[in-house]
Amino acid sequence: MSASDRISEVQDEAVAAIEAADDPEALERLRIQYLGRKAELPQLLRTIPQLEPAERAAIGAAGNAARGQIERALELKEADLAAGEIAADDAIDVSLPGAPSLPVGHVHLITQTRRDIEDVFLGLGFQVAEGPEVELVEYTFDALNTDVTHPSRARTDTFYIDDDTVLRVHTSPVQVRAMIAQPPPIYVIAPGRVYRPDNDATHTPQFHQVEGLAVDEGVTLADLKGTLLAFARAIFGPDRDVLLRPHFFPFTEPSVEVDVSCFNCDAGYMRDGSRCPLCKGSGWLEVLGAGMVDPNVFDYVREYGYDPDKVTGFAFGMGVERIAMLRHGVPDLRLYFDGDLRFLRQFGAR
Ligand code: PHE
Repeated sequence: MSASDRISEVQDEAVAAIEAADDPEALERLRIQYLGRKAELPQLLRTIPQLEPAERAAIGAAGNAARGQIERALELKEADLAAGEIAADDAIDVSLPGAPSLPVGHVHLITQTRRDIEDVFLGLGFQVAEGPEVELVEYTFDALNTDVTHPSRARTDTFYIDDDTVLRVHTSPVQVRAMIAQPPPIYVIAPGRVYRPDNDATHTPQFHQVEGLAVDEGVTLADLKGTLLAFARAIFGPDRDVLLRPHFFPFTEPSVEVDVSCFNCDAGYMRDGSRCPLCKGSGWLEVLGAGMVDPNVFDYVREYGYDPDKVTGFAFGMGVERIAMLRHGVPDLRLYFDGDLRFLRQFGAR
């Protein structure tokens, strides 16, 4: 048999054996058998330099081609066996029962409450405005007629980023931003997070407010009271009344604190004659701060169309946590932020 015939015989035998191999160990044995140091084909290739020059080229080419074919067959088989292993691991047992569907969560009580509040004011013709939580001192205090000596500006009452920048302590700076962005008439609410360095059962360092601002010609305190009455009845029930008590805010004049008649009792007393635990027997629940926009605030945004001699307005600001606390009897504001599912899941049904 000629050398080239033997070469093709070895190649055919090797490739057939490799294709028939059914595990990696068998494949490795074949690699040694056909391409190892002592195997026939490599031995033969090593003798090529001693061949007659006329034979050298043909035998060399045939031998190298055969080695390439065998190497290629080994590679293909190796990939084949590896893929088979993965397929075996991933085999799906279609007779198993399907995975139970994962429970879908629900929006947080604070989000639900904020949306309820937004719905009331959107229904009254207000639009939603937003502003940054990292806010200028200028918009947080100066533009809102808050003197540099006002205690709320102290480093103990406000988180300062630097001398000119704070984490906003209320949503009121959005009043200023909204007026800069749009001339009167303006009817906006501004929901959002606010920050103060407090932490106890009734104060969390981060909480939520909804600001309100209405500016137009001829807006009066009666408009404020009517708007808040509609709000109180939508959120706390159709029989509610509102009470405006004199108060002070730097950016409103006059300023009021607004109470809503207690929905838990009759004028402070329960049916069995005991004192109402919610309103503590007063018959009223304090829900927000409000007032008529101070002319000094308009003066600050005068160039944007707010002439204090032409327009009047009212503003209000409420705490979303407090509204939800009153509505649902939440005893400690920290519960809102603890992430305890036993608390949160009580408010998932809506
Ligand atoms: N910004 C006030 C606060 O945080 C609430 C308020 C808003 C009062 C608008 C009057 C007018 O307490």
